[in-house]
Amino acid sequence: MRDFSAIDRVVITHGPTALESAPRLSATLNCNLYFKRDDCTGLAGGGNKTRKLEYLIAQALTNGADTIVTIGGLQSNHARQSAAAAAKFGLDCELVLEDVTNTPKTDFYNNGNILLDQLLGATIHRLGTDENPQTYCENLIVELQVQGKKPYFIPIGGSNVVGSLGYVRCAMEIVQQIEQQQLSIDQIVIATGSAGTQAGLLAGLIACGSDIKVLGISVSKTTEQQALLVTELLCSVLEYLELDPGLAEGRVHTNGSYYGASYGVSTEPMIAAVKRCASLEGVLLDPVYTGKAMAGLIDLSDKGIIAEGSNQLFLHTGGSQGLFAYREVF
Ligand SMILES: Cc1ncc(COP(=O)(O)O)c(C=O)c1O
Repeated sequence: MRDFSAIDRVVITHGPTALESAPRLSATLNCNLYFKRDDCTGLAGGGNKTRKLEYLIAQALTNGADTIVTIGGLQSNHARQSAAAAAKFGLDCELVLEDVTNTPKTDFYNNGNILLDQLLGATIHRLGTDENPQTYCENLIVELQVQGKKPYFIPIGGSNVVGSLGYVRCAMEIVQQIEQQQLSIDQIVIATGSAGTQAGLLAGLIACGSDIKVLGISVSKTTEQQALLVTELLCSVLEYLELDPGLAEGRVHTNGSYYGASYGVSTEPMIAAVKRCASLEGVLLDPVYTGKAMAGLIDLSDKGIIAEGSNQLFLHTGGSQGLFAYREVF
């Protein structure tokens, strides 16, 4: 395997993030639940993108970039953390943000993440539903280059091989914490979207020789579509780490039953899961990712699909800033 510690990285994350038990929530489930608190990574509200940005920003700086260009939904947590990381390293930040249909309207356009993007000094390009964000970004990059700037493009969710390295590192951290706390974790449950978190986590577990199962609850795609996305990225990460991509075989587990009508659209189980976590554990989930993933975990526990008495680790990937955009659904 490639020398992981030698890969370029800037340090942003307040870590290791806590791995803690959730006894009051566990008492309502058929399993013992633990949280890995990546909602507390420390960068302008935290979340999973902070770890990815450690590797992406390092590459941007190596390339001599002066501007970060990235893409996401109007309430993207990735965009917020990218804007914060850019500010921290003195880079300009251009956010290309797409509207999301059937979301609440009162606060969606001005509050939550988008309010923070503005405070963090990013330039925001709000796209209408008829505009193609990829094409828009390509044109924007050319425009910036003509102005003499050096843009660095980060794909949606920071989910390429470089960004996924943040979750390889997180997996190593989890394996160490499990050992230190003398726990035996049967499964890690996460929200999966652009796939970098799950792919990186699995690559890191494989690199550590850990066979812990990772279940990705999809926020926008069917079980099969999401599995394909994760598997493709996982194989590329394994190749980059000079590990056998064949080790991906049988490791990718996804569930597309809990995102509801589409990405970002509220569901009743999400609302119930957010309220349950907040009132029992003082932990704030989010409406788009972790709320739906926790709704999945609760349902799988209620149905006995999660093994009775097993130890489940919920990777809390952040996003509670989005709650303010969804005020009216709560
Ligand atoms: C709070 C939160 N959880 C989970 C995810 C999903 O991570 P990934 O896109 O790496 O699959 C995101 C991505 O934007 C997120 O903001």
